[in-house]
Amino acid sequence: MSESAPFSADSYFATQPPPASLEHDILGVREFVQQQLKKDRNVVLVTSGGTTVPLELNVVRFLDNFSAGTRGATSAEYFLKAGYAVIFMHRQFSLQPFSRHYSHSTNPFLDFLEIETPPVASPDSTPQICVAKEKREDLMSVLTAYKSVQASGTLHTLAFVTVNDYLWLLRAVSQELSALRRRALYYLAAAVSDFFLPRQKMSEHKIQSGKGSLHIEMDQVPKILKSMVDEWTKDGFIVSFKLETDPALLIPKARAALKRYGHQLVIGNELHTRKYQVLFVTPSSHTSILDDSVDEDSAFTETWLRVDIPSTPSAVSQKEIEEDIVFELARRHSEWINEKKL
Ligand code: PMT
Repeated sequence: MSESAPFSADSYFATQPPPASLEHDILGVREFVQQQLKKDRNVVLVTSGGTTVPLELNVVRFLDNFSAGTRGATSAEYFLKAGYAVIFMHRQFSLQPFSRHYSHSTNPFLDFLEIETPPVASPDSTPQICVAKEKREDLMSVLTAYKSVQASGTLHTLAFVTVNDYLWLLRAVSQELSALRRRALYYLAAAVSDFFLPRQKMSEHKIQSGKGSLHIEMDQVPKILKSMVDEWTKDGFIVSFKLETDPALLIPKARAALKRYGHQLVIGNELHTRKYQVLFVTPSSHTSILDDSVDEDSAFTETWLRVDIPSTPSAVSQKEIEEDIVFELARRHSEWINEKKL
């Protein structure tokens, strides 16, 4: 255990430096939020992908995690389809809406293209690039959706790499988005590191291997959800995720998060089944979850969402679970907005 006091959100931001691009990023978000306010659109902040934890100031080595950003990128597409404007805050080089269909190794873009050589007799014999016939329909639908989003200006993209970049950006974007009050939805799908090396403890140069084994003591990343709920957002609908590998922990951990942070919804998922089932956990009513005399089981409501599991590992699932997640969230968010108007 570290001998120094654990970081609170305040002491974190007072001692860890902001990323160089922060001011520029904030201006972009501010402008985007103003545009959406004028158009009367609901806005969702989607966080996506993992964060790195650098071990050196001149960084050669870092810790990382498994998240590819599938949940975030896929959900962002469905939010756009549902009429939301989306701030997509993602780990640099993780999956992005639309391009996710053709990136990384599962569906490489170049495999969609063919080289067509015109007949020798034609006036222009330059070889042409075309899309393989059997791929055109899918590509057309992705491309049409992408172009329409570009034309409507409803997607704003921001990138982070380290956990420090993430925390500074999250705070700034949340504060900007709070101008939308209840019309803002926060969808925190990023897998954020729980431990980090404060700048003051980092080696300036590459850690040398000559000294034998390496012992590093990390500090805990402050739990920022509390500050987010109480200080950085105003009336927004906040959805956090809970990832577990032990199914028995899913419900207790999700309930504990709602109790501790006081937000609206936790989506629980297990590592190996996360693409096919998720659990929505909400307070049955806000007062009852804090009242220890109320039976835990009646203080929370739990709902599973499930889609079919593909028959073979390479088969594509018929439906992406994010479609149902977003449909259900948009419904609940709309109820949340209307509650205020009553
Ligand atoms: O990207 P994929 O490969 O598709 O995987 C998706 C996912 C499994 C990563 C995603 O569905 C998910 O579960 N993300 C949250 C992982 C997690 O368990 O986070 P956590 O328990 O460390 O944090 C709880 C919540 O607070 C999360 O919503 C997290 O984004 C947020 N958080 C946590 C710590 C922190 N310092 N800042 C945060 O915002």
